Amino acid sequence: MVEIAPSILNSNLLNLKESVSEINGADWLHFDVMDGHFVPNLTFGPMFVEAIKEISDLPIESHLMVSNPDFFVPLYAEAGSKRIIVHAESSVHLHRLVQKIKEFGCEAGVALNPATPLTAIEHLLEEVDLVLIMTVNPGYGGQKLIPSMIPKIKKLRELIDSREITCKIEIDGGVNWDNASILVEAGVDVVVAGTLIFREPDRRKAVARLKGIVAKGGN
Ligand code: DX5
Ligand code: ZN
Repeated sequence: MVEIAPSILNSNLLNLKESVSEINGADWLHFDVMDGHFVPNLTFGPMFVEAIKEISDLPIESHLMVSNPDFFVPLYAEAGSKRIIVHAESSVHLHRLVQKIKEFGCEAGVALNPATPLTAIEHLLEEVDLVLIMTVNPGYGGQKLIPSMIPKIKKLRELIDSREITCKIEIDGGVNWDNASILVEAGVDVVVAGTLIFREPDRRKAVARLKGIVAKGGN
């Protein structure tokens, strides 16, 4: 069953309580952590994860777009993230970092920027719960999906299916009403969508609409 994970980056940050409640029909809450160094933007500290957990039962996946993930993993794990996604490009000891995430009892995800090849994580597929294929260059919501990421998703799908492992494929950035079904057909398990949801006047309806699209398996 394909899941959806709305990102609150482009939600109404002046009424986060409302934004979080509008997406409670989703499967995950996608939480974009940016340090102004790994990506040219600065966002939420771990106290926001704690605050959101007070008002929502949605499991939170913290997407760490940070240069020092070893420092931030414990903070976002202890704040209550169910899944922590780190960037392959942000650690020279990625295998050890994945073990560290799992030691905190969190699901471990590894993200690849658009230019980073799948070979960067081929020796980790048995260790991680999820691979996040960035379909935009990280740092901002509302960007256009990079079409050349579709064959990358299909290649990863083949790679995972050839090994009979349970690693999920997630994509993040530029999802819209036209490409969502194409992405599901390419073999995605989790779809992140931020602007698509929050630019709609009725976010609850948008969440239900996206769930409907992914549930049909893309057709
Ligand atoms: C970008 C973030 C994405 C973003 C969602 O660096 O990782 O999660 O917030 O992107 P859109 O708004 O395109 O769905
Ligand atoms: Zn993200």
